[in-house]
Amino acid sequence: MRVREVTTTFDNFGGHSVGGTPLPIPNREVKPGCADGTRGASPRESRTPPNYLRRGPRERPSSFPRLTLVELTDGIVLLRPPESGDADWIVEACRDPVNQRWLPGLPAPYRSADAIWWLDHCRRGWEDSSAASFLVLDARTGARLGAIEARFGLPPDVGYWLAPEGRGRGAMTRALVLVSRYALDEREIESLELYTLPDNVASQRVAERAGYRREGSRPQHIFRRDGSLSDAHRYVLRRAEN
Ligand SMILES: CC(C)(COP(=O)(O)OP(=O)(O)OC[C@H]1O[C@@H](n2cnc3c(N)ncnc32)[C@H](O)[C@@H]1OP(=O)(O)O)[C@@H](O)C(=O)NCCC(=O)NCCS
Repeated sequence: MRVREVTTTFDNFGGHSVGGTPLPIPNREVKPGCADGTRGASPRESRTPPNYLRRGPRERPSSFPRLTLVELTDGIVLLRPPESGDADWIVEACRDPVNQRWLPGLPAPYRSADAIWWLDHCRRGWEDSSAASFLVLDARTGARLGAIEARFGLPPDVGYWLAPEGRGRGAMTRALVLVSRYALDEREIESLELYTLPDNVASQRVAERAGYRREGSRPQHIFRRDGSLSDAHRYVLRRAEN
């Protein structure tokens, strides 16, 4: 597996929070999830990092805290923290009708301020260890394909999307495998959950191919665009299964 140097710096994240807008990734939850996943300890710094992972404190101005950023790769896809320069591309991708349909929590219309909010959310997630957000790139060309995010709440869960040009090549399955290994092995999360709308077959296939197992449904868990409440399929990956 190829390893790349992390080049993102936190001062490179965009803007300030404009507040109030939903995340670009998750389906909006209407009920708190059950606490069947546990928040792990901080990363085991003494261990030798696996070869899909590269991390290191970045040199940055004193006004910015020293933080550990990671990028993950399997040689086919490369996952790196989002940067301010990604904002325009994120806006375009989040306006895509397929993403708008399956991610009802996305603002519509999706504006620059929404992308700037999300970039700030990503920065805060890395800063306080509440989430690990990545852009998914083609490892060979560097082309942006999509985004994926592990959120270390209770329960810890994952959300993702691809731009139209990133679909149909198994990129998100690869990204989900990498993020899941990182969350379970490095962040020592016991299990990760993933929720899809019942008719989102492509996302369900991605989850299954990445090793997640269907564990029932959550009734009335996701608001659709028309305002109706839908059940959600619940998928779980446990550390022992990874
Ligand atoms: C979900 C998503 C990331 C999947 O990525 P993708 O590149 O389209 O998926 P793939 O092409 O690798 O296809 C995965 C599987 O789903 C199947 N599939 C894809 N689109 C499908 C569709 N519309 N109906 C039925 N099956 C479909 C593929 O045939 C493939 O099956 P296989 O595993 O048997 O080969 C992508 O479609 C997407 O970004 N959707 C919008 C956002 C979203 O749904 N996010 C997840 C919210 S829970």
